[in-house]
Amino acid sequence: MFKNITSKELPKDYSASVRHEKLMAWVQKMAAHCQPDNIYWCDGSEEEYQFFCNVLVEKGTFIRLNPEKRPNSYACFSDPSDVARVEDRTFICSRLRDDAGPTNNWMDPREMKSLLNKLFEGCMRGRNMYVIPFCMGPLGSPLSHIGVEVTDSEYVVVNMKIMTRMGKAVIDQLGADGEFVECLHSVGAPLALGQTDSKWPCNPEVKYIVHFPEERSIVSYGSGYGGNALLGKKCFALRIASSMALEEDWLAEHMLILGVESPQGEKTYVAAAFPSACGKTNFAMLIPPKAMEGWKVTTVGDDIAWIKPGPDGKLYAINPEAGYFGVAPGTNYKSNPNAMETISRNTIFTNVGVTPDGDVWWEGMTEEAPAGVINWQGQVHDPASGKPVAHPNARFTAPASQCPSIDPEWENPAGVPISAFIFGGRRSTTVPLVYQSFNWSFGVYMAATMGSEMTAAAFGELGKVRRDPFAMLPFLGYHMAEYFNHWLNFGRNLPNAPRIFGVNWFRKDENGNFLWPGFGENMRVLKWIVDRVRGRAAAVECPIGWMPRYRDMEWVGLDFSREDFKSIMTIDREAWKKELLAHEELFSRMYDKLPKEFFFMRELLLSSLWRSPEYWGLAAERE
Ligand code: OXD
Ligand code: MN
Repeated sequence: MFKNITSKELPKDYSASVRHEKLMAWVQKMAAHCQPDNIYWCDGSEEEYQFFCNVLVEKGTFIRLNPEKRPNSYACFSDPSDVARVEDRTFICSRLRDDAGPTNNWMDPREMKSLLNKLFEGCMRGRNMYVIPFCMGPLGSPLSHIGVEVTDSEYVVVNMKIMTRMGKAVIDQLGADGEFVECLHSVGAPLALGQTDSKWPCNPEVKYIVHFPEERSIVSYGSGYGGNALLGKKCFALRIASSMALEEDWLAEHMLILGVESPQGEKTYVAAAFPSACGKTNFAMLIPPKAMEGWKVTTVGDDIAWIKPGPDGKLYAINPEAGYFGVAPGTNYKSNPNAMETISRNTIFTNVGVTPDGDVWWEGMTEEAPAGVINWQGQVHDPASGKPVAHPNARFTAPASQCPSIDPEWENPAGVPISAFIFGGRRSTTVPLVYQSFNWSFGVYMAATMGSEMTAAAFGELGKVRRDPFAMLPFLGYHMAEYFNHWLNFGRNLPNAPRIFGVNWFRKDENGNFLWPGFGENMRVLKWIVDRVRGRAAAVECPIGWMPRYRDMEWVGLDFSREDFKSIMTIDREAWKKELLAHEELFSRMYDKLPKEFFFMRELLLSSLWRSPEYWGLAAERE
């Protein structure tokens, strides 16, 4: 039976040398309240990582994978009650309810604190408290910010090591009085004396993921999974950072960042926002089709971008993360070879299948499940059962530095200059393959009203369009309408704002087949975008923005006819009438604070519905 690691077994830590009194006092206070057996300050070293991976193997949480197949890699299965982010248990506790807005759960901070105080009292009994100093963004970058997570989960320690710059170097950077975001986490499963721990400790009944934007602090209870527990990611880098960005005039966005290199070696960086489950990691690591020789895509980030204006008036972006916490199912050598290489070693897999020869497997990795594969619930997979091998939200945690397409500038403390923003959802109808908004304000309107069809029942009715403004619906730390205003204002102050584009890889024909091949072929859309930004691609004015004609895009090496193009680019009047009416549904939830420009823009779009039918569908028709 596994016993908690004793103070003698823990590596020696550096806590005696920490000079930051406020941090020390906070850690002591949390420890007095949570009552762990020991406190250990993580140094971020390789040895420490190995030590905790070994502990997790001994506990039965980790399965060490075959080193010949997956060197230095582990698999684990979570508790069935703890498999994803829990949006309905996620709270923004600003002092005023109105500051959290209509799209967030809210509770009075005093009430929430009193509730959390009770939950946290003694919640780490029988466990250790790990202090994880971490930096979001390259250490020392003016765009980076520091957090300290205290947690009772070894799984969190090793995942944070991959996902962030973590350890003693961050404490050195903090010095005696540096600012940091307090992140308190517990799996919410104290152990009585002698009680055997479960392999995936969590609290199946009670979960709270709480943000206090005014204090810039985070408290998370009851879950050990992903964004609920690795507090640097969605909690800090999006929810808390978005409210910091509002105050300090920058942007914290749910965006990937990629570089496009032309055959002439010219480099253009773009940032792109897609709701969850729209293939962001695939797009960030895209490999252009062979026929488009000389074009190359490089990866800066796959999920989050922090963006600030530079001294030259351009926008500069960093990826605050150091690793990928990507969805495994569907990832294969065809859909994303770069991701497959990235996860070939030094990777933690959560809720995937484990093969009899000690490797991993998930739906879509190969055609058929290997015989004898163990499913994410720890049982031998029965193909007749209809149950999947991997949980649909199964994940890999892998170092970004291992990505073959990693951009040479990805850790540049100054960030990379952003020339375009791309917004896309999953829409089987209505929204064309690509268009450019008329200007910044229309772009903000388009991003604010973007929607995506739901693929997981957890978020509502399957297939129904969920409005997900800027792909930030579950990740914004304040009032959504204020965020729209922030974006509008932000653009007004930029001398040469990035151009804004809409894309949709998911349009279907009347038989339900995807019209666009996607994956590497998305390079064709990217090329048109980059050429537009560089002022060398043509387009025609359409009701919703500027669109390429067939001849304005690169088709070499792809069998995609003029007719195909028409099907994917047609702007259907009736569909857009419905679309524009549906925007009202979102607006009505936040009418009082909505930018007044939005009403005019919607009016303008609506009135263009009465223009000639030829005007609609224009780009698709024109020679
Ligand atoms: C994610 C998400 O996990 O967006 O990145 O849900
Ligand atoms: Mn995401």
